Amino acid sequence: MASKLRYDGRVAVVTGAGAGLGRTYALLLAERGASVVVNDLGGGRHGDGSSTKAADTVVQEIKAKGGKAVADYNSVEDGEKIIQTALDSFGRVDILINNAGILRDRTFARISDQDWDLVHRVHLKGSFKTTQAAWPHMRKQQFGRIIMTSSQSGLCGNFGQANYSAAKFGLVGLNNTLALEGEKYNIHCNTIVPTAASRLTEDILPPEMFAELRPTLIAPVVAWLCHESCEDNGSIIDSGAGFAAQCRMYRGAGVNLRKTISDEVSIEDVRDSWSQVTDMSKAAPLTTIQAATANLMTVLEELRSTPASGKVVEDKFIYT
Ligand code: NAI
Repeated sequence: MASKLRYDGRVAVVTGAGAGLGRTYALLLAERGASVVVNDLGGGRHGDGSSTKAADTVVQEIKAKGGKAVADYNSVEDGEKIIQTALDSFGRVDILINNAGILRDRTFARISDQDWDLVHRVHLKGSFKTTQAAWPHMRKQQFGRIIMTSSQSGLCGNFGQANYSAAKFGLVGLNNTLALEGEKYNIHCNTIVPTAASRLTEDILPPEMFAELRPTLIAPVVAWLCHESCEDNGSIIDSGAGFAAQCRMYRGAGVNLRKTISDEVSIEDVRDSWSQVTDMSKAAPLTTIQAATANLMTVLEELRSTPASGKVVEDKFIYT
């Protein structure tokens, strides 16, 4: 068997590591040699309260196995304090797993400002704060591995989770841009889309699945994304039950809604072409913004090379 992947000399910050998925990430990385900051606010699943117990328990578990770990009890909203704990305790930060999370599920009509803000503050702003605090250190040392935690609820939507799915899809956007900005500094940012048994999912996942969805089945996927030999940057990896697969955004082949460059587009043109607009049979992944924009240049060239049709759109001046 090939030699085991190690994280000796690496310092990892795992937010929300006092329970569930984060705990397994912290334990695995520590077992493989990393020094770990076990961050956890220790509050309830709806974002209420705080306690030192969750983080302390995991630190004790790691130390009992001979690993190196320190507890941090700050909220991810104070991300700079969490990164400071890494610097004060271990002198650097190499790996940042943005994992802390809460739920405040309500149907859309009943979501309060507090339900919206708290979920966004923990998931989206929290990931921004910790990552921005770690960024200059990772840049300077020309190494960083960052994980964002999204959700199938973000990628697909989920009844009763408008606040959560919006924040979770926001993290995909953050991932996409950080992957671009970090590339030249060897800072890679990837996103995990986990499905696992935890206190967040005990009343959401079907009971027959719950026992089988051990968080330990996802930890190796996240650990691999955090390893120096993993070259992925910007990937979105769905994982659960020992399954893992990359996710991507796709765009259909599309259609020109007008025939020549001098034509306008009417609502009827859109209606008549709708089956082609929405046809995904020749869809291709949306990769870079340059590639996405280059497609529009091709569209314009095609239109310019077609002689004028003389077609008049009657309501052209109503809305221009
Ligand atoms: P969990 O509730 O077991 O763990 C989350 C941890 O985050 C808790 O220990 C909690 O105390 C901590 N936390 C909450 N707010 C915090 C804050 N402001 N600062 C620091 N720590 C805080 O839940 P689980 O399932 O392990 O969730 C981990 C992440 O995975 C979350 O971001 C969640 O949204 C995401 N996720 C989980 C899924 C699942 O199937 N379990 C599905 C999709 C996403």
